[in-house]
Amino acid sequence: MGVPPFPSFAFPALFLFSLIIIPQLAQGSITRHYRFDVKLQNVTRLCHTKSMVTVNGQFPGPRIIAREGDRLLIKVVNHVQNNISIHW
Ligand SMILES: *[C@@H]1O[C@H](CO)[C@@H](O)[C@H](O)[C@H]1NC(C)=O
Ligand SMILES: *[C@@H]1O[C@H](CO)[C@@H](O)[C@H](O)[C@H]1NC(C)=O
Repeated sequence: MGVPPFPSFAFPALFLFSLIIIPQLAQGSITRHYRFDVKLQNVTRLCHTKSMVTVNGQFPGPRIIAREGDRLLIKVVNHVQNNISIHW
């Protein structure tokens, strides 16, 4: 009776790994992380300064780039006193 080269739990673990990881590699789907800092910022346009809600200092907010099947994790931090809603 020989000693197996790997502990017996290694094979199910490798099998699970291939089930979980390999289909994701085949599809090329990834998780994309974004952070949105929502702030009030003074913006001057045509000699008028007004306070605007911006995302990462931009209005309209930054572009999100993703491919079909990707997972998006977007952390939104609201630095403004009012409640906000975000649409895209
Ligand atoms: C915007 O400008 C006003 C008036 O000058 C000022 O009181 C306010 O602090 C400014 N806000 C920001 C976010 O810079
Ligand atoms: C913001 O939303 C929370 C939860 O819905 C609510 O309790 C709170 O009163 C709201 N604040 C303002 C300033 O509207």
